[in-house]
Amino acid sequence: PSLRPLRCLDDFEQAARLRLPRPVFGYLSEAAETKRSLRDNRECFDDFGFVPRVMIDVSKRSMATTLLGHEYAAPFGMAPMGISALYAYRGDLVLARAAARANIPMIMSSSSLIRLEDVASEKLGAWFQAYLPGDAEDITALIERVAKAGFTTLVLTVDTPVTPNAENFARNGFSSPLRPSMRLVWEGVSHPRWLFGTFLRTIARHGVPHFENNYAKRGAPILSSSVTRDFADRGHLNWEHFALLRNLWTGKIIVKGILHEHDARIARDMGADGIIVSNHGGRQLDGAVAPLRVLPEIVKACPDIPVMLDGGIRRGTDVLKALALGAKFVFVGRPFGFALAVGGAQGVTHALNLLAQEVSRNMAMLGITRLEELNADMHLFRNQ
Ligand code: FNR
Repeated sequence: PSLRPLRCLDDFEQAARLRLPRPVFGYLSEAAETKRSLRDNRECFDDFGFVPRVMIDVSKRSMATTLLGHEYAAPFGMAPMGISALYAYRGDLVLARAAARANIPMIMSSSSLIRLEDVASEKLGAWFQAYLPGDAEDITALIERVAKAGFTTLVLTVDTPVTPNAENFARNGFSSPLRPSMRLVWEGVSHPRWLFGTFLRTIARHGVPHFENNYAKRGAPILSSSVTRDFADRGHLNWEHFALLRNLWTGKIIVKGILHEHDARIARDMGADGIIVSNHGGRQLDGAVAPLRVLPEIVKACPDIPVMLDGGIRRGTDVLKALALGAKFVFVGRPFGFALAVGGAQGVTHALNLLAQEVSRNMAMLGITRLEELNADMHLFRNQ
């Protein structure tokens, strides 16, 4: 299919809606409860207008960004997304390869249906996102497995002490575990490209999809109730578990899902190498503040480590506003999932090229040649 009608990241959502069975599209696009956080993650960017500087030579621009010792081609990367292998065949691998080709970071979700070793062994520079298992022994086993596979950057997601309200997923026919039903069969049959190209192809080559990375064990099939049990059992986790993890893991650790400056300080003081300010794309606590709103305070609290942000980034202008407010880097979730569903590797590459072009073009119109020149006092006006 031609990707040309897809001219910005938002265009991919409608295209993906047609391509995916409703339960799968719903899982990818939906958010918790009233979707306040999902909406505010977008609307918060309207609080700021740009104040461009003019008549500056912007003919040579670079958006290269050094993060954790690596020079990336752009200041954005791919946020971790579970079950990506249901959006396209071997979806996590497709994303990781596209990211490596573009020299941007991709974070592999631990709720993926592909073994973490399969991604690590291709040496694509992907990071690994973990949810901590319940006890010290399992944490140790998980860390050993992730390190042995070859990952060097670990992202610990800390905003999921319990499984979120799944009502909007259920409304679209998605459940965990997945319960086979006539509706599910119909959804498959009425999306033959997905059924043959993604789902049956996966089953034929790799068997029924499993959560391959939940903790240290080979995971449960998506049809098994142990999925819910394994993922739910995290309520007691606390900073002592982080201390254990920091002790075990010799690579970089990024803490994802922080919204309070005090938590940011704790993470930093306990040895986090970076923080992702995030409300999980509005998929956990509905009404959780939009990351952009608390970003400046967190940057002030942790000036010595990279503070990153995700949630609602859809435009080059969003990237630039977040960076002007102090983010070192941003991550984009859903749009890359939609792009994966719509056009596989080409779709993802098209999406990240569009975003990169927007960033570069907007840098010129803002009057900057390097991202370090961005400055909230100079370039942003707070709308009343
Ligand atoms: C997510 N997110 C997520 N985060 C995480 O740490 N581990 C995970 O397994 C997942 N899974 C996941 C699945 C899907 C379908 C989505 C959409 C999101 C959250 C994700 O990393 C990120 O925080 C948000 O998606 C960012 O918001 P946007 O860019 O989607 O608005």
